[in-house]
Amino acid sequence: MKIVVITGSAHKHGTTAALADQFQRGAAEAGHEVFRFDTAFQTVHPCIGCDQCRSTGCCVFHEDDMKILNPHLLEADAVVFVSPIYYYTINAQIKAVIDRFYANDAALHGGKKAILITAMADTETDAASGANAAFREMTKYLEWDNAGVLNAKGAYTPGDLSKEDLDYAYELGKNLK
Ligand SMILES: Cc1cc2nc3c(=O)[nH]c(=O)nc-3n(C[C@H](O)[C@H](O)[C@H](O)COP(=O)(O)O)c2cc1C
Repeated sequence: MKIVVITGSAHKHGTTAALADQFQRGAAEAGHEVFRFDTAFQTVHPCIGCDQCRSTGCCVFHEDDMKILNPHLLEADAVVFVSPIYYYTINAQIKAVIDRFYANDAALHGGKKAILITAMADTETDAASGANAAFREMTKYLEWDNAGVLNAKGAYTPGDLSKEDLDYAYELGKNLK
């Protein structure tokens, strides 16, 4: 299975990076091929809604780093979104990438599985409700199968991550079929 992991955080050794690493370890053990795109270290211009992609088939920002991600995204059997919770939803870096799906909207429809992994300082799962709702509606719209959600709460830093959450991230990768 070809899997694309899209992370949002600028913390190279942060909380969500640790969860992404665990996911990838599980996925590698299961024999999956993983391409990871760390949005915080790439240049991805936010969509400006100009609709040029609708008339020409090409995004006005087609020369930025979405050109690295797009071929992998189009081929992927599964897409995994890994984001810190910023003000009750995913962070801006990962949202910019998702908005740029618009240029390939039709081609991206159907035939993929999707997973959401988040981490937050809050000890209430409600802190991730915005991210979870966006993920749920987006996957419904794109006709992708929801293959799992992990909301690691009480995790301000990687050291706060519970063994249970780290194990679950690993299992999401290992059990993805
Ligand atoms: C700008 C900003 C906004 C945040 N907003 C929230 C929030 O709404 N709820 C929450 O529980 N944690 C919030 N946090 C804490 C992060 O989600 C948490 O520290 C997380 O572990 C960071 O993951 P990372 O190290 O992968 O970036 C926020 C952190 C920052 C920097």
